Amino acid sequence: MSETLQIDSARYGKWAVIAGGSEGVGAAFADELGRAGFDLLLIARKPGPLEDTAAAVREHGVEVRTLALDLLADDAVEQIRTATADLEVGLFIFNAGANSYGHEFVTGDLDGFRGVIDLNVHRQIELAHLFGARMKDMGRGGIMLLGSLAGYMGSEHQSIYAASKAFSRVFAESLWLELAPYGVDVLELVLGVTRTPAMERAGLNFDVPGMLVSEPEDVAREGLEHLADGPVWVAGGNYKAAVKRSGFPRDALVRGAAEAMRALLNR
Ligand SMILES: NC(=O)c1ccc[n+]([C@@H]2O[C@H](COP(=O)([O-])OP(=O)(O)OC[C@H]3O[C@@H](n4cnc5c(N)ncnc54)[C@H](OP(=O)(O)O)[C@@H]3O)[C@@H](O)[C@H]2O)c1
Repeated sequence: MSETLQIDSARYGKWAVIAGGSEGVGAAFADELGRAGFDLLLIARKPGPLEDTAAAVREHGVEVRTLALDLLADDAVEQIRTATADLEVGLFIFNAGANSYGHEFVTGDLDGFRGVIDLNVHRQIELAHLFGARMKDMGRGGIMLLGSLAGYMGSEHQSIYAASKAFSRVFAESLWLELAPYGVDVLELVLGVTRTPAMERAGLNFDVPGMLVSEPEDVAREGLEHLADGPVWVAGGNYKAAVKRSGFPRDALVRGAAEAMRALLNR
């Protein structure tokens, strides 16, 4: 990426926190923000990729701290509160949240589904609460939540993930309304299929004819450039798909998308 990111560091700086900042879109956010002069706290579970990403971002001459932590741990929010107590956090990105458990609902494991809700709903709101309150007091800042085209309609084998992303989008809209008067931007960055390590590990077929596949670096940059264009920004050329999925009648739309998803997942 050659050009420097156009972002208002006076509004969002100096520290940015990325929950899920070690790989894929999260690492791309870190790289862009490091180039733009932000100091960073990166959070992820696996220490190896986390330290590798931190070391690469430090090459841009900024301070990068790491917190190797499972966001599902009971004390995760307290650990993050402590780790950021001395930092002026002007930007918070909640990136972690790919589907960790997909199954037909009625035969699925409820604890698996609860894990998706714990990360994508509970941790998201707890951390938005923590950083949003501080930003409101500062009178500036930005919060970005990662959404998905999956959050626009129900689908087989990812009922809870899809519902959690619908929650995120509606939550982001509310937060955007409430925080805008205090100079805090809120954005739900909606992604379509994106070539991340998590999706590669999940065995996603990126070669379905006609399917748009985004690169992490492109959607991260697009999201950062549109932080002030909330409450929702659909990245990667997927705007028309989001509009279509928002329409009626629901039966034809939901069935049609399910057929496309079967092709994507080789089912
Ligand atoms: N990729 C796509 O096609 C796509 C499409 C639509 C929306 N999205 C959204 O984009 C975001 C990023 O997705 P992704 O594909 O990069 O996968 P992801 O599994 O959400 O991984 C992103 C980052 O989050 C960290 N992470 C995941 N679970 C964590 C946990 N429990 N505690 C701490 N850190 C955790 C990962 O590192 P560790 O594994 O080391 O923890 C990694 O750094 C998600 O919110 C996803 O829903 C992605």
